[in-house]
This record gives sequence, C-alpha cells and structure tokens, in this order.
Amino acid sequence: MSSNLSFVKFIEIRNIQSSSGHLAFLEQGTDLDFEIKRIYYIFGVNTASARGGHAHKALAQVFIPISGSFRINLFDGVESKSFVLDCPTKALYVPPKLWRTLDTFEAGSVCLVIASECYSEEDYIRELDQFVLWQAGEPK
Ligand code: TYD
Repeated sequence: MSSNLSFVKFIEIRNIQSSSGHLAFLEQGTDLDFEIKRIYYIFGVNTASARGGHAHKALAQVFIPISGSFRINLFDGVESKSFVLDCPTKALYVPPKLWRTLDTFEAGSVCLVIASECYSEEDYIRELDQFVLWQAGEPK
C-alpha cells in the first residue's frame, strides 16, 4: 500500500557560507512545491515535552530545525517512521494525512514551520483512533 509516508523527504537548504557566518534560504517553486500560506515557529519547548499528536487532512508542511534538534514521528495508520532534525540546512517535507508527534527536543530548540494552508482547526484530526478510521476510508 502506498501512503503519504513515501513522499516524506529531506530538503537540503541552500546555504551561503562566509567568514561572517551562514545564510540559508528557500524559495517557492525551487525548494517548495506548494504555495506558502503561513509560517510559524515553536520554541521554548521543555525537553520532556512532546508536541503534535494530530494529523492534517490537507496541510503540507516543511519543518526546519533553526536551532537545536528534535525528532518527528510519522504514522500513516499502518506504518511509522521517525526523522531526527538536527541541522539548520536540512528541512523535512511532511505531506498531509500523516499522524505526527514531535519529541526529544534539545533545550533551546527552535522549529520553523512553513505551511501550505492558513490555520484552520477544520483541517486537524486530533484523535488517533479517528485518524486510523479516516485513513482506512480514504481513497489511495
Ligand atoms: P497545534 O497545531 O496543536 O500545536 P503543536 O502541534 O505544536 O502541539 O497548535 C497549538 C495551538 O495553537 C492550538 O490551539 C491551535 C493554535 N494555533 C494557531 O492558532 N495558529 C497556528 O498557526 C497554529 C500552528 C496553531
């Protein structure tokens, strides 16, 4: 069975390095294959905390570990995969229809998220059993 788990991918972010530091950038079309509708960031996470714990019906996202590191765990209703994000020039593209949790945050981590949709609670599935049922009924 193919699922959106197979479309998850790391994106190497272009990086201009000089003696005064790094400048990394992404552009719509070249690095991102969706139109950017929203940017948000997560910071000040307690190292014992997990975030996420939901799926999105239509929202695609790119996660960038601007600082520190954390892990993203993805589940398609059958199979799971985990990805460690620990380099600010290595982003993770996460398509919709995947249950996700974020954990193992290093102290001081900052996670920037580029999103394909504006915020809408309608796009969330916040119960795991509801997600598994919804996913089983979705056309593949
Ligand atoms: P949520 O997506 O559940 O955060 P996380 O997955 O990091 O745990 O969002 C947490 C709260 O913030 C929830 O009440 C919805 C709200 N929120 C917004 O108002 N706008 C946004 O762009 C996002 C991402 C969340």
